[in-house]
Amino acid sequence: MARHLLTLDSLGRDGIRHNLDLAARIKTRGGDTRDALAGGRVGLIFDKPSTRTRVSFEAAIWGLGMLPIALRPDELQLGRGETIADTARVLSRYLSALVIRTFEQARVEELARHATIPIVNALTDEHHPCQALADVMTLQEEFGSLDGLRVAFIGDGNNVSHSLIQAAGHMGFTLAVSTPAGYEPDAAIVAAAQANCRVNGGAIELGHDVRVAVRGADAIYTDVWASMGQEKEREERARTFAGYCVNADLMALAAPRAIFLHCLPAHRGDEVTDDVMDGPQSRVWDEAENRWYTEQALLYMLITGDETGESLG
Ligand code: CP
Ligand code: NVA
Repeated sequence: MARHLLTLDSLGRDGIRHNLDLAARIKTRGGDTRDALAGGRVGLIFDKPSTRTRVSFEAAIWGLGMLPIALRPDELQLGRGETIADTARVLSRYLSALVIRTFEQARVEELARHATIPIVNALTDEHHPCQALADVMTLQEEFGSLDGLRVAFIGDGNNVSHSLIQAAGHMGFTLAVSTPAGYEPDAAIVAAAQANCRVNGGAIELGHDVRVAVRGADAIYTDVWASMGQEKEREERARTFAGYCVNADLMALAAPRAIFLHCLPAHRGDEVTDDVMDGPQSRVWDEAENRWYTEQALLYMLITGDETGESLG
């Protein structure tokens, strides 16, 4: 049966560790994966816009020696009534893997149920697992280890926060999530991650006071207040989230060694100020770069089943 990345739980602790180890090795080689999967073909479906995910995946696919095939939603029969199940069955006959960014998590899971190739979730309304891999890689590069780290996530309890919560559960670091009331992350995702923290260490903390979340934090992470698909709520959210901007005053409450992370794209002046984005504590460009290495490692692991990357040399 094909192995998928539907949420970060699909990889679990060992899978995430292997991904990080392999990604670090690929990074030291400047992203050279020596055409390890020459002849392969990977489809990409984006039902929402993307800069980083689209380009980093295409670069990763090409670096592994495979052909990236961008499948525009308006050109697929999927948009004219062909079922997800039939699409999955057919694409499995041509492709080595399929990367999809869409709205409902259920669509990605339906594809995976009927595909015989790996399905990779490139963001849904509920999860963004590829982002969390690059986030964790960036934390590990900065601090050498994830043990004992405290990360504060400030803003909306959204897809990015859910994948980070799952990452904290598997890797055993503390994630303090601070949101306005009514915008908390999904309770079931939090509970499952808290159960993992009881085994692996760390904790998931929820609250509404940003100052409590960031006190002593090693990293402050934020994301847009209105995600893709929530454009109509933008003004209302701007009012609700006004106190959740990561600015220099908030950074000053974190640990002296604290770094700033953001999945990007950023809405400068809303969830983060220019001085923080462009300041010495910001690691957002390294974080974006790390998408490329973690995705190369991910595709390699899922397509070959070789978790440790032995045949990569
Ligand atoms: N962080 C991220 O997924 O960016 P894109 O929406 O540009 O792909
Ligand atoms: N939460 C954001 C993340 C973008 C990468 C969104 O879903 O739009």
